[in-house]
Amino acid sequence: MTDTLRDEVRRHCARAALDVLQPGGCRGDSPAAAAPGEPVFGAALYDPADLAPLPADAVAASLGCGNPTAMADLRPGETVLDLGSGGGIDVLLAAERVGPTGTAYGLDMTAEMLALARRNAAAAGAANARFLEGQIEAIPLPDASVDVVISNCVINLSTAKARVFAEVARVLRPGGRLSVSDVVADDDLSPAERGERGDHVGCIAGALSFGEYAAGLAAAGLERVELLPTQRAVDGMYSVVVRARRPAAPGERDPRNAARAAAAEARRARAAARALPRDGVVALGDGPAPGACCG
Ligand SMILES: C[S@@+](CC[C@H](N)C(=O)[O-])C[C@H]1O[C@@H](n2cnc3c(N)ncnc32)[C@H](O)[C@@H]1O
Repeated sequence: MTDTLRDEVRRHCARAALDVLQPGGCRGDSPAAAAPGEPVFGAALYDPADLAPLPADAVAASLGCGNPTAMADLRPGETVLDLGSGGGIDVLLAAERVGPTGTAYGLDMTAEMLALARRNAAAAGAANARFLEGQIEAIPLPDASVDVVISNCVINLSTAKARVFAEVARVLRPGGRLSVSDVVADDDLSPAERGERGDHVGCIAGALSFGEYAAGLAAAGLERVELLPTQRAVDGMYSVVVRARRPAAPGERDPRNAARAAAAEARRARAAARALPRDGVVALGDGPAPGACCG
């Protein structure tokens, strides 16, 4: 990641965290919720019953474009890692699902977000939630130490995505799963055209296409790649649940078959995305719902 772009993301995210941490902040007393017909983002993407036990500040700080724990099939005792954990909403939900015998780690590079997340975990009494400072391109955890990697609208912010995918493959145990929400672009949108639709900190300009996402995960050694478009974001770009798995045994996976399967999945996902209804749009960055993502 270039230092300039990373610093810009950190600055925007620090401001979003301070808006919640400081009394009178613009988001601190107004958990995101969408009225019928309004754009959907952040906390409005979750089941209200799941959010009810969480501290209000964890809900107010939600900056995601999906609900990754809902699709991760988390089980008691598992170790979960959230890449770019922000105010901690998905770590707290994961901590609840893996229970006291499991652990939910959040990794974030922004000190203000980590302070907010730790405060939220203390308020929730989540003794099995831990927050680590660092970058998703260099995960500060040992090899094969994580059962499930989750993330919510963060991988698009990295300018070293191949590095992120390699790190995911490294920290996952054999048979471990990836389940992330992210913004993904149509394959025929060039990087410049993505940049015309929104900025980098708004989670638009840095988005991969379906083909790039699937190929990147396959190249990192992951298999069973699934791209499940859930909602439209901006013209030609979508909120997508991305799932994959580290092979359970070495030699189980043929790289050529994996690349072919990933390409076929990208084509299927693109067709599914184009068939999505035009309402229920996720608003990100400079859209009509300011504060979504870190833009
Ligand atoms: C759009 S917010 C999403 C936060 C959280 N996942 C959520 O759903 O509310 C992006 C978060 O990722 C963090 N982040 C962005 N790029 C990162 C990187 N390269 N390494 C670590 N954290 C990063 C930011 O500090 C911020 O907290």
